[in-house]
Amino acid sequence: MASQSYRAGLFWSQLVRCTTLGQTRTHPGRYLSSLHPPPPDSWTSQLSLLPHQDLYRLSVTDPDRFWGSAAADRLHWVEPFQQVQDCDLSRGRINWFLGGKLNVSGECLDRHAKTEPSRTRLILVRDLCSSPVCPSIRELLETTCRLANTLKSHGIHKGDRLAIYMPVSPLAVAAMLACARIGAVHTVVFAGFSSDALAGRIQDAQCKAVITCNQGVRGGRLIELKATVDAAVKNCPSVQHVFVSQRTENPTMMGKLDIPLEEVMSSESAVCPPESLDSEDLLFLLYTSGSTGKPKGLVHTQAGYLLYSSMTHQYVFDYRDGDVFGCVADIGWITGHSYVVYGPLCNGATTVLFESTPVYPNPGRYWEMVERLRINQFYGAPTALRLLLKYDESWVKKYDRSSLRTLGSVGEPINHEAWHWFHSVVGEGRCPLVDTWWQTETGGICIAPRPAEDEAPIVPSMAMRPFYGIQPIIIGDQGEVLSRPSVSGALCISQPWPGMARSINGNHQRFIDTYFTPYPGYYFTGDGAVLSEDGFYQITGRIDDVINISGHRLGTAEIEDALDEHPAVPETAVVGIPHEIKGEVPFAFVVLKDDVSVNPTTVLQQLRELVSTKIAKYAVPEHFLVVKRLPKTRSGKIMRRILRKVAMETTCDLGDVSTLDDPSVIAEIVESLEQYRKQRETK
Ligand code: PRX
Repeated sequence: MASQSYRAGLFWSQLVRCTTLGQTRTHPGRYLSSLHPPPPDSWTSQLSLLPHQDLYRLSVTDPDRFWGSAAADRLHWVEPFQQVQDCDLSRGRINWFLGGKLNVSGECLDRHAKTEPSRTRLILVRDLCSSPVCPSIRELLETTCRLANTLKSHGIHKGDRLAIYMPVSPLAVAAMLACARIGAVHTVVFAGFSSDALAGRIQDAQCKAVITCNQGVRGGRLIELKATVDAAVKNCPSVQHVFVSQRTENPTMMGKLDIPLEEVMSSESAVCPPESLDSEDLLFLLYTSGSTGKPKGLVHTQAGYLLYSSMTHQYVFDYRDGDVFGCVADIGWITGHSYVVYGPLCNGATTVLFESTPVYPNPGRYWEMVERLRINQFYGAPTALRLLLKYDESWVKKYDRSSLRTLGSVGEPINHEAWHWFHSVVGEGRCPLVDTWWQTETGGICIAPRPAEDEAPIVPSMAMRPFYGIQPIIIGDQGEVLSRPSVSGALCISQPWPGMARSINGNHQRFIDTYFTPYPGYYFTGDGAVLSEDGFYQITGRIDDVINISGHRLGTAEIEDALDEHPAVPETAVVGIPHEIKGEVPFAFVVLKDDVSVNPTTVLQQLRELVSTKIAKYAVPEHFLVVKRLPKTRSGKIMRRILRKVAMETTCDLGDVSTLDDPSVIAEIVESLEQYRKQRETK
């Protein structure tokens, strides 16, 4: 059992001890004394008196005034900005708060350590239900400084890139903030990704170092993180150091790149002055999947991202001073960046780090945590809700949820059943439930109800309303702007906002081609949407070859690339089909070599392993169907639209098949599918 073999949270208490016993102390005042206070004629104090409809109108008609005042009021500038924005969407040029200088870790730590040093701002809820680890903001600041000094003394400086391959933990948060403190650029890689996927990201970002743990612990199981990093860095010559935190008691084989993190940190000073960074200096890269090619490293920068994540955190969730904010996302995804780390910490919230799973050790896990920590906002993914609603309601009801004020959903469409269960069973019908639509690219929530400001009732399963400064438009097949309700089209955003990504690492042209070329002058989201009669936005799902498995975004092309590496497989096509719990799952159509030595059962098993090692376990297709050939147009393009319908058994409505090279292929595939279904039923 994992419980025997790890000393949960020990690394944290060690750090806390060494910081409290240590002689050195941080001096947040030093950072703060050099900051510019908000201007006396602060616009925001006037603006905040406006009714929210007027404020929204102003945010889109006079964005410079709106964002300029918000940035001046909410952030503490080491040097004030000279220009609010310089953006041209058609060229993918996005710059905000030009000339301004600040430090994101200063905003998240020093500011709050000065006012209330002993207040808890992080609560780690560990895999096993032992008592949570609750560092104060001063302890988090000191740990961050020690880590920042460790990085510096190992030759890591402003502009260098680091991969963080760790489960959610205070040390992982400190690692992100330590990078931000010295101006290094972090790329957090979800600790469920394989060594190949990790290596691809390290290579693309040219990371100089990796920060990891010896092992992770989740759902009672040990995860061999260090072993995965070892395999990855073999193919990454840019990596000079691997910092290894000791998460469990199990011995760790240390190689020549490896540095024991807690050990080296303990001899570093707990003071590290924050670098003064330009608004547009890089803060982090985060890799995400697209419909073609390898995952792309979206570039996010300092001031605009921080302003946007903190404002959305406050307004969408109705965050108030002193609240405990519970977002159960992993820090490996954008939700973890914006609503576990940067947004809440900037606002001085107490943010929860959830290391476990919704059903470990039982399906009451989330609600026990809500009761114990008196969580005020709970933000999670529909996939977990769909899983939990299968269990008896007593798993929810036996815990006191009276602290909850706002519920939030993210990452994928929330179906009606899950919405109503979350709202009425978990929230007892009294907590507003906000369905929040956004993306890695957008940096923060773009469309969501704002219940604290709006008296109109929330429409279930609908993202509803754009955030301040966001102007969505829906575009039809012919490129026309659709203003009529109930007609679905491509969701675009017509104006820049401070939180949006600035580029794709190493390939700005791909950034332009992906997001700004399909509908010139607009940011194209890749999603479809429809406007309701009441003027609310409903997201209809991806309209490209990206699927969403349990809230994890994946390009079907990525899975196909992994499958195509098998020598017995000349061709594959992967589509997403609906799944009751996971939202969507991949369905793979596989053509095998016409060779007697090829054993289909063995090949399919090898294909499962290939996807697992090339990407991650969650990417392994739920279904594999061996077919003789794939449906193609006369120009040789695979018609995935048809395959999706076949896989969903909706062939009565195949749409236009006139471009198919040989329509008889459909009957052939349907027959193979029937056999496959029969075999599954008899198993
Ligand atoms: O398709 C949309 C879906 O998730 C995609 C973005 O994925 P990612 O960059 O991984 O970020 C996920 C967390 C923000 C979107 O293009 N998506 C996200 N939120 C919703 C959603 N689909 C429907 N409703 C949502 N609320």
